[in-house]
Amino acid sequence: MGVLSTLLVPMGPYYEELMELGGLALCGIGFVAFVVLSVILNVLQQLLFKDPTKPPLVFHYFPFFGSTVVYGMDPYKFFSDCREKYGDTFTFVMLGRKMTATLGPKGNDFVFNGRLSEVSAEDAYAHLTVPVFGEGVVYDVPNHVLMEQKKFMKFGLTVENFRSYVPLIVEQVEDYIKRSKFFKGANGSVPLSDIIPELTIFTAARTLQGKEIRDALDGSFAKLYHHLDSGFTPMNFLFPWFPFPQNKRRDHAQRTMAQFYMDKITKRRANEKNDEDQERSDMMWNLMNCSYKDGRKVPDKEVAHMMIALLMAGQHTSMATITWMLLHVAAQPKLVARILAEQKRVFGDELAPLSYEKLVLECTFLGHIIRETLRIHPPLHSILRKVKSPMHIDGTNWVVPKGHYLLAAPGVSSMDEKYFKNPLAFDPSRWEGQKAEEEAEKFDFGFGLISKGTASPYLPFGAGRHRCIGEQFANVQLMTIMATFVRNFEIQRPGGGSDVPAPDYSSMIALPAPPSIIEWVKRDP
Ligand code: HEM
Repeated sequence: MGVLSTLLVPMGPYYEELMELGGLALCGIGFVAFVVLSVILNVLQQLLFKDPTKPPLVFHYFPFFGSTVVYGMDPYKFFSDCREKYGDTFTFVMLGRKMTATLGPKGNDFVFNGRLSEVSAEDAYAHLTVPVFGEGVVYDVPNHVLMEQKKFMKFGLTVENFRSYVPLIVEQVEDYIKRSKFFKGANGSVPLSDIIPELTIFTAARTLQGKEIRDALDGSFAKLYHHLDSGFTPMNFLFPWFPFPQNKRRDHAQRTMAQFYMDKITKRRANEKNDEDQERSDMMWNLMNCSYKDGRKVPDKEVAHMMIALLMAGQHTSMATITWMLLHVAAQPKLVARILAEQKRVFGDELAPLSYEKLVLECTFLGHIIRETLRIHPPLHSILRKVKSPMHIDGTNWVVPKGHYLLAAPGVSSMDEKYFKNPLAFDPSRWEGQKAEEEAEKFDFGFGLISKGTASPYLPFGAGRHRCIGEQFANVQLMTIMATFVRNFEIQRPGGGSDVPAPDYSSMIALPAPPSIIEWVKRDP
């Protein structure tokens, strides 16, 4: 600095400005030097100090940032490139976190069926979900309590309820088509990114959440839902501590929505004896009447928070699936014709009203369309756990240390040539003659018998103690929406194209890049 100021003194009136500029330049140079030095040290460390007791580390230049950008832009390409270089198990750095990916069916099993003493889902997800769902539920409670809560939620997902849901979903879809500006006239085109989020939430709300919640979605509840949803982004996951403005809105929405549910519960309890209109089969009614093993009744606040958790857990996953499904069948109109032919075979040429049993048990082709969609587009591309105690990887000298995150990507095995011929082709007929869930080992983690999924390369609903409880509901919802669409419209991609948009990974769920347009022609009434 001394030499610099001697040189600058003759500059007279500009001295101070120049000093400031000089200071800034020095700061800039210092920063660049710091970055260069840390990159050099980081690279040298990776080249010279490989630790043979840990899984290989994915090469990266920048410490802390590591592979964040390449992984975030296209996780499947990243997994495939790393797999070629390092094999099925490797560790990468994502914003200072060490993520160990374990790919393939064995890798899925390692993550999904890790012991409770070794892996924790709550440590991986709580910072994202607790502000959205609320306290006292899902990842804000010890695992054994979550298992009980999942059992309560499953009680509300009975065949009897599903039977009553089918006509309600049809009604919502047909009503939506009648009211939507995108379906005026005899033909037109529709951006799926505009209509599917609404259709999904209206149908889930009318069935699982009850009439009061569905009606409220036409009013202020919709805005609250959007504010809550805006707190469910990768940014919230990566920077849980950052005071984003949308987090304030999220917290307000969470409190207001929870209060809304609690007011409904209070009203229902008050009317319990004399209100004949009360919907005694919906999820809220079911949760209001559950008790924990220790005899404690589920408090109203937890009922409210579980209702929010169910709304959020099902919304993005089902919405992504129905969008991909419509795009794929629109890209191959012969599939649309086959779905309609199946509808006529099962329900008659006059297309009698849809019913649960016939739809789910007899419309097998439609079922295969859903399965094929979830094979190529499992909504959750990365499933995470935090490592609580060192975990040895079978057949290697590697130990994944405590504090790392484990990452399973069931989409990698479900799009692997080894298990599915021509894996990137959308071909529902590949499922013909195959059972829904192979005779896999079953286990009860506290919410009913489920497949441990140890050998299957196809696990869109996960496996083990955190396995999805919403699969059957999602199936009913997706099948009913799809069947109603195909009964009403012929559909195709713009100009009869056979392309399907590329996935966009910028949200938590892999969605097709918007607007995802399909063209429709109304069928004869
Ligand atoms: C868990 C996928 C729909 C509620 C999961 C998991 C997956 C998944 C992969 C495991 C997550 C993990 O292991 O970390 C899907 C897909 C769906 C769908 C692909 C639709 C196509 C639904 C619906 C609901 C729901 C409609 C509610 C009605 C849940 C719940 C869990 C779960 C409560 C348990 C979380 C845990 O135990 O940690 N889902 N899901 N899901 N899902 Fe779903």
